[in-house]
Amino acid sequence: MIIGGSASQKLSAKVAWDLGENLSPIETRRFPDGERYIRIKGEVPKEVVVIQSTGYPQDENLMELFLLLKNLKSLGVERTRVVIPYFGYGRQERRFKSGEAVSAVIVAELLEAAGASEIYSINLHEKNIKEFFNIPVHEISAMPMIANYINTQVDDPMIIGPDKGALGFAEEISGILKCDCDYLEKTRISPEKVEMKPKNLDVKGRDVVIIDDIISTGGTIVSASRILNDLGANKVLVGCVHPILVEDALLKIFAAGVDDVFATDTLKSDVSTISVAPLVAGYLKKFE
Ligand code: R5P
Repeated sequence: MIIGGSASQKLSAKVAWDLGENLSPIETRRFPDGERYIRIKGEVPKEVVVIQSTGYPQDENLMELFLLLKNLKSLGVERTRVVIPYFGYGRQERRFKSGEAVSAVIVAELLEAAGASEIYSINLHEKNIKEFFNIPVHEISAMPMIANYINTQVDDPMIIGPDKGALGFAEEISGILKCDCDYLEKTRISPEKVEMKPKNLDVKGRDVVIIDDIISTGGTIVSASRILNDLGANKVLVGCVHPILVEDALLKIFAAGVDDVFATDTLKSDVSTISVAPLVAGYLKKFE
């Protein structure tokens, strides 16, 4: 049985269809004072899969997930596999300044305490997040799906990571497509501001695809696309796994000369064109 949380209803329906499983109806609403109400309708089997991304509104989606998991446990479920397509709070996975809460660790501990038996997630922001859990964590890469999509759009692209952290994604895709890849040098000044050094990349006349795991404010992509356009790129396309797209991020990106943006449906957005449903279904089947 598959249970889709509010943040991942459509994806859950697709995964259920791919697996030939029932999508369980749940009732989720708010009391007049804003508190969340959850009810699972009908009988629950001993094993269930819950699918819920924990992007914006992060705290609401997490709370709903905690209530669902605890409720399933108290209803007698023995194994709850939790698919978190986008793992929110993953960027605060260490104490950067003294006194900071290490939010990713706290979220991991709460998920376990709530009754998660296993976690499945797509491209965690940092590899160490897996180590915060004492239960199995299956990290799934969406890069092969993104590579297939790029293959249908561009001939002989050049793949660019907008920072060193994204080089691994760029390399994974260029390895599949057998094309060139490189990366830019980025320094983050604040959550909203980045600085990028000009770099001599041979992109003149080339169709370039910038690849990142996350687009949040769009600042990274705006800076990267300006550099690539200045260097004479023919087209600049942008792909990411998790389209957080805060406020007018997408507008800023197109206004910076980007030709197209595509992303997966780990989060709902106007550019979530690549569905990870078959990927998630395949992993759930593999570890049945
Ligand atoms: C950084 O480590 C990530 O991979 C992304 O580059 C970053 O989160 C993007 O943020 P923004 O869109 O706000 O520049």
